[in-house]
Amino acid sequence: MSVSLVADQNRENVVKRVLIKFNTSILIMPNAQSLKRWKKWGKKGIFICVEGLDGCGKTTQTKLLVRRLRKKGYNVIGTAEPSRGEIGNFIKKYCLHGMKRVSSVVEALLFAADRFEHVEKEVIPALDEGKLVISDRYVYSSLAYQGAGGLDLKWIERINEHAMRPDLAIFIDVEPSIVIQRLKPRKSVMENLETQRKVREVYMKFVENGELVKVNGNKSKGEVADDILRVVLRFLAKAN
Ligand SMILES: Nc1ncnc2c1ncn2[C@@H]1O[C@H](COP(=O)(O)OP(=O)(O)O)[C@@H](O)[C@H]1O
Ligand SMILES: [Mg+2]
Repeated sequence: MSVSLVADQNRENVVKRVLIKFNTSILIMPNAQSLKRWKKWGKKGIFICVEGLDGCGKTTQTKLLVRRLRKKGYNVIGTAEPSRGEIGNFIKKYCLHGMKRVSSVVEALLFAADRFEHVEKEVIPALDEGKLVISDRYVYSSLAYQGAGGLDLKWIERINEHAMRPDLAIFIDVEPSIVIQRLKPRKSVMENLETQRKVREVYMKFVENGELVKVNGNKSKGEVADDILRVVLRFLAKAN
């Protein structure tokens, strides 16, 4: 009997195959679920994003979710887009808090560039350590905001194709008129009732096709947090 280890380099990971030769060859693979995940994303951790209109409670809920999952013993980190990198900081100044809204094409390209840096520098390293990563906004924000700005969703997807799809994407649904009230003191150039309505429409397309899981955000912060935790724990139970 001879045993040989064959290292098979895919993009980010080395998948070890144990080849046992005993008269005939038997190939022992990792269990089906982990192989599916590795193949799909080339990573070991789990990536979740929280999406929704400005003021729907993403930042509040991402922090609560990180805290609650940590209490349950998960190795979890919270992150956000625009990222804290140079492109992210530029976006905050130039696109979100500039004098007026820049063109949707410029927004889409800048957000896609920032997203790829965010994925490369923050998300993938954490996933490679087996962490659960929760991002406050991700690719659906580009689809919703720049899609609502009139751009073709297929093109937005295309320029974001190097950013991996999340394992779970949560949409906190709040009435556009309510978020406008919540945001009064800190409105950015992207926030008015008509824009928010259009943005919600795009998000809802992804809820309808099953890519986003909708959570009712018109409840108290604690109740919304309970609902999100339930969705995440159900997902994690299935993924493991
Ligand atoms: N469920 C809620 N009910 C009422 N107010 C909320 C709720 N969730 C968040 N808020 C408040 O709304 C504002 C926007 O919340 P935030 O988490 O910053 O939203 P986002 O990150 O989606 O823009 C904050 O003042 C926050 O305290
Ligand atoms: Mg926020």
